[in-house]
Amino acid sequence: MCVCVPHDLQLYILQMNQRDRIQKQRESLPTYEYRDELIEAIREYSILVVIGETGSGKTTQIPQYILESLPDVKKIGVTQPRRIAAITVAKRVSEEQDVSLGAAVGYTIRFDDRTSSSTKLKYMTDGVLLREATQDPHLSQYSVVIIDEAHERTLETDVLFGLLKQTHRLRPDLKILIMSATLDVEKFSDFFDECPIFEIPGRTFPVDIIYPESSQRLSSLKSLMVDQAVDTAWQIHTQEAPGDILVFLTGQHDIERACKAFEDKERKLNYKKGVKYYDDGHGVKNAVVFPLYASLETFDQKAVFDPSRESVRKVVFATNVAQTSVTIPGIRYVVDAGFVKEKSFDPNTGMDALLVTEISQAAATQRAGRAGRTAPGKAYRLYDEDSYNRMLLNTIPEIQRSSLLSTVLSLKKMHIIDVLGFEFIDPPEETLVKNALKQLYLLGAIDDIGKITPMGEKMSHFPLSPSLARVLVSSAEEYGCSHEVLTVASILAGENDLFRAPSARSKGGEEAMVKAEECKLRFAHHSGDHMTFLNVWHEWRQHGKDRRWCKDNWINSKVLETASSVRSQLIDVMDKCRLPIKHAPKIKAKSSKSNKRKMGQDERGETIDPVPILKSFLTGYFTNIANKGVNRSVFSHYSPDEHLTEGISADEGSFGVRSNALVALHLHPLCAFSDMLDRNKIKYAELDWVMYTHVTYTNKAVMKGVSKILWDWVRSGDGQERIKKLPKTRLNGGDGPNVLEMDDKMKEESVVVMANIDLPDDT
Ligand code: CDP
Ligand code: MG
Repeated sequence: MCVCVPHDLQLYILQMNQRDRIQKQRESLPTYEYRDELIEAIREYSILVVIGETGSGKTTQIPQYILESLPDVKKIGVTQPRRIAAITVAKRVSEEQDVSLGAAVGYTIRFDDRTSSSTKLKYMTDGVLLREATQDPHLSQYSVVIIDEAHERTLETDVLFGLLKQTHRLRPDLKILIMSATLDVEKFSDFFDECPIFEIPGRTFPVDIIYPESSQRLSSLKSLMVDQAVDTAWQIHTQEAPGDILVFLTGQHDIERACKAFEDKERKLNYKKGVKYYDDGHGVKNAVVFPLYASLETFDQKAVFDPSRESVRKVVFATNVAQTSVTIPGIRYVVDAGFVKEKSFDPNTGMDALLVTEISQAAATQRAGRAGRTAPGKAYRLYDEDSYNRMLLNTIPEIQRSSLLSTVLSLKKMHIIDVLGFEFIDPPEETLVKNALKQLYLLGAIDDIGKITPMGEKMSHFPLSPSLARVLVSSAEEYGCSHEVLTVASILAGENDLFRAPSARSKGGEEAMVKAEECKLRFAHHSGDHMTFLNVWHEWRQHGKDRRWCKDNWINSKVLETASSVRSQLIDVMDKCRLPIKHAPKIKAKSSKSNKRKMGQDERGETIDPVPILKSFLTGYFTNIANKGVNRSVFSHYSPDEHLTEGISADEGSFGVRSNALVALHLHPLCAFSDMLDRNKIKYAELDWVMYTHVTYTNKAVMKGVSKILWDWVRSGDGQERIKKLPKTRLNGGDGPNVLEMDDKMKEESVVVMANIDLPDDT
C-alpha cells in the first residue's frame, strides 16, 4: 500500500523532528537540571554570580529560562566580549526559540543591529551595553542584565561592573547576573558586596595532557608555532581515533597559513596514493579544514559549528575565540601553541598594540578542557611542562594593559568626573589614567577642570577612537570637508589593510609583488596615504564597486564594502549631532593625463584640495607626528612634552630630544610613500614632517596611514595652546589637584603618543 504524505505535512514532520531534536539537546545540558533552582535564586537576589564549565549552557540556556519562567520581564540584555559570539549565540537561541532572528531574539554589535521593538532577549557586545549605559545610567529598558564571559575581563566588562554597581543603587529592582567560567569568581562576588555564587557542576570527561617529548620552551616555539601546530594536528589526524581537532593559534595570518599547510599535506598524500580519499584505518577518511577568527565573514563561521559528517574529521585552526566564547561540537583533540594575541599597552612608547604573548595557566587549562566536552579527550601542548609552570596563573585583565582613552571619555560623559576614584574591580594603573586624561585634554574633549566639553560630547557619540572622532567633528565644523573625511575615516576605522600584499611565497610571488606595487603606485597621492585612500574609493565607485576590479588592482574589496556601510552609519551620527556634511574645496590642477590620479580627483574629475582634509586629521593626530630622520624611511617621533619641558622651539624642525623619548618610526611597506620612495617618485628630501594615524608595534614601531604635513599647521593648531596650558589643569575634577603636576616620574617618562590603534571589538 502506498501512503501519500502531502508536501506540507512532510515539512511539518520534518520541523517537528527538528524541534524535538533541539528540545532534547537543550535538556541534555548541565544547566537544565538546575533550571528551577536558578530561577528561584534570580527571583530572590538582585545580583547573582553564576559559574559553570564552558559549554554547560550558561550563555544559550539561562537567558531562555528567564524568558520562559518570568513572563513579566521587560527586556533581557546579555553581553558578550566578542562580536562573533554575540552573533552565533543569538542565531542559535533564535533557532531554539523557533523565532526569526531580530524578532523576540536579536543581537546588537557595533555597526550591526538585528533587534526590533519586539525583541525581548538581546545579545550584544559589552561595548554596546557600555554605550547604552552612558546614555541611560538607569538602563531603563532592561529588567535583567547579564554580563556573560565575565572571566574574560575585557575593559568594557570591567567598566560595566563599576557602572552596574551604581545602577544597582539607582534601580534595586534590576536583576544583575554575572556569568563566568570557573575562574576568579570570588573576586566578582566580593566586588558586588559578597553576592551569592551559583555553581553549576560540570559534566566533563577526563582530558589527557600531552607534552612534547623533548623540552620545548615557549620563547623558542614562537617562530615555529605554525609548523609545529600543523604537524601535530596532522599526526593526530593520521593516527588517532575519530574526533575533531581544535588548534589554538594567534591570528588570521597564522591561521590561514596553517589551513593551507594542512590542506597541502592532505592533497600530497592523496596524490601519492592515487586515490581520492585517504583512510587512516579508523574510519576517518579525509579532513575538512576551518579557519576561525573574529573578522571572518559570518557565512564561513557557520559551517564550523555544524557537526561533522561521518568519516570526515573537522580540523579547526582558531584564535582565542574558541577558548571560552564559542563551542564547536565534536572536539576531542586540542593542540595548544601557548600564545595569544592580545592588546597590550607599552608605557615606554605610550602605544597600544596587539602583541603575541604567552597565555596563562588558567587559559591553558581552559583550552585543554575543550577536548573533553563530549567524550574523553587529549590536549597536546606544544610547550613543555616547565614552560607551563612558569606561566602566569591568571590572564592580566585588559584594563591593566591598555590605554584608557575611550574609557575615560565615557566615564567623563557619565559625569564621573573623578575618574581616578572610580570603582574598578581592578583599578588601572594611575599613570595610565592620568595619561588618558591628558590626551583627552589635548584633543579638547575635556576642559581644564576635567569636565567633558561640547566637543567631547560630540566625540563620544562616534563609535570610533576619540582621535578619529575629533577628526570628523573638525572636518565638519572647521574645515568644511566632512564628505571626504568621512570616507577616509571609514576606511581607517576598519581592521584590515586596504591594499593586499601578495606574499613572496605564493605562486608567482615576485611577479605579483611587482604588479601589486605598480597598482598601488597608480593610486598614490603625492601627499600620502589619506588622499590615496580617497583615490581608491572614487575609482572603486566609478567601477561600480566591482570585486573583480578590486582583485585585479590588489585592493581588499571587503575593506571598501565595510567602509561603505560604516560610512553611512557615521553619517547618521553626524546628522544626529547636527554636523554638516560638506564637500572639500576644489583646486585648479595643471592636469596632464599621467598625474591625473596623483592629484586626487573626485568622481566628477575635479581636483580636491588635500589641505583641509589633512588639517582635519591633524586635529585628532597632532601628537602623532614625526620628523624625518637621518636614515631613509625612518622618522623620529615628535614628543610635545619634551617640547614643553625643555622649552625647545621646534620651529626649525630640528630639536634635541632626550633618548628615552625618541622613538624611531618606520614606514610600513603598504604606505604610499614606501612605493614612491622606492621608485623615486618622491625624494626623501621632500618629506619633512609626517602625520600618522596608526602605529603597529612589533619588533619596531611601524607607521601606517602616513601623510605629509607642514609644521606650520601644527603650530597654529589649538592643540598647541592646550599643550602650553597643561601645567595649570585639573583634569581629574574641578577641586582636585593637578594630577599631572604631582607626578614627576610621569613627566620624565612621558611621551605623548595617542593610542590610536583602532582595535576590533574582539580579537
Ligand atoms: O555558555 P556556556 O559555555 O556555558 O555554554 P553555551 O555557549 O550556552 O553552549 C551550550 C551548548 O550549546 C554547547 O553544547 C554548544 O555546543 C551548543 N551551541 C551550539 O550548538 N551552537 C551555538 N552557536 C552555540 C552553542
Ligand atoms: Mg558562554
